[in-house]
Amino acid sequence: MKKKISILLVAMMSIFIIAGCNTGGGEVSVGIVLPTKDEPRWVQDEARFKAALEDSDYTTEILFSQGSSAKEKENVETLLNKGIDVLIIAPHDGAAAGSAVEAAKKDGVTVISYDRLITDTDAVDYYVTFDSIAVGAAQGQYLIDNAEGSGVPLYLYAGAASDNNAFLFFEGAWSVLQPKIADGTFVIANSSEAEALKDKATLTRDELGKILGQVTTNWDPNEAKNKAQTNLTAAGADLKGDVAILAPNDGTARSIADVFASDGAVTSYLVSGQDAELASIQYIIDGKQSMTVFKDVRTLVQDAMGMAVDILDGKTPETTGSYNNGSIDVPAKQTDVIVVNQDNVKAELIDSGYYEASEFTGLD
Ligand code: GAL
Repeated sequence: MKKKISILLVAMMSIFIIAGCNTGGGEVSVGIVLPTKDEPRWVQDEARFKAALEDSDYTTEILFSQGSSAKEKENVETLLNKGIDVLIIAPHDGAAAGSAVEAAKKDGVTVISYDRLITDTDAVDYYVTFDSIAVGAAQGQYLIDNAEGSGVPLYLYAGAASDNNAFLFFEGAWSVLQPKIADGTFVIANSSEAEALKDKATLTRDELGKILGQVTTNWDPNEAKNKAQTNLTAAGADLKGDVAILAPNDGTARSIADVFASDGAVTSYLVSGQDAELASIQYIIDGKQSMTVFKDVRTLVQDAMGMAVDILDGKTPETTGSYNNGSIDVPAKQTDVIVVNQDNVKAELIDSGYYEASEFTGLD
């Protein structure tokens, strides 16, 4: 009798073990690699992944690459050793991440590029993203809609040239700003490369690269601050007064805004942003940042995890289009973005449950 029970127990236990491992046999089924904890955007993503995974049956692990492609490669290897079946990765450097995902592919892992496209490799299976061209267009359009008169000095800043998104954001902004530069509404204040290209409605990747080379912040608020200081030191009185600033994201927008606010010859500034970072929502409430582009990370996380689960279940994930990464067309799922300013900040970010009202002051 005793023996029978123990055989039964062993049998039951193996069923549990098999059931627990039905996603491929490893300790971790979905590996997630994010670029850095130093930019609040990605800490948001981590929190949203954790919230989405609370009741999930799938085992996941999130690792940060701290702005290093070498660390990123190491992270991917760590996850491969834990037997992952799906890798969700936002690369630090889109091209340099190629070798990490090629190693994953070799291991039979399905690769999902998350928010930033991994370029120049065929080892990317899917891409989940926001509409990045629309992000840049919304930033530029905000400056157009709110600038007054003509000859308004326009200061241009961009993200890191190692990030494919930085090109898309700038391309989107340029598509709306260029006609307004051509008609004299704006005067470019800080980029001779942009000035030289101001009559071209559509720029090639190389041309965009030239401008980015001059106005990049590398997504680093400190670098953005230094660049803004250098630009304002070089600018004559004709490039001050009421100005417009294209800032690529919230982290850089806040530091650039601080620099412009402290220049006595700048009477007012409009400044764009992106990510709806907590600190920037406070800046918007306080009138120190003009707008942000809200990318609801909950949706991106849901899309990425939905894809991962489909893959684990042997189904083909749904996609809405594709992105060419320089090597192949990567099937992609794209999400819309929302423009936020003082008028709708409460409706979009508090009433939607994204943030708590208690996290801010002066909100009414
Ligand atoms: C981009 C991302 C933005 C922003 C930036 C800096 O790739 O799409 O949301 O956070 O990186 O990390």
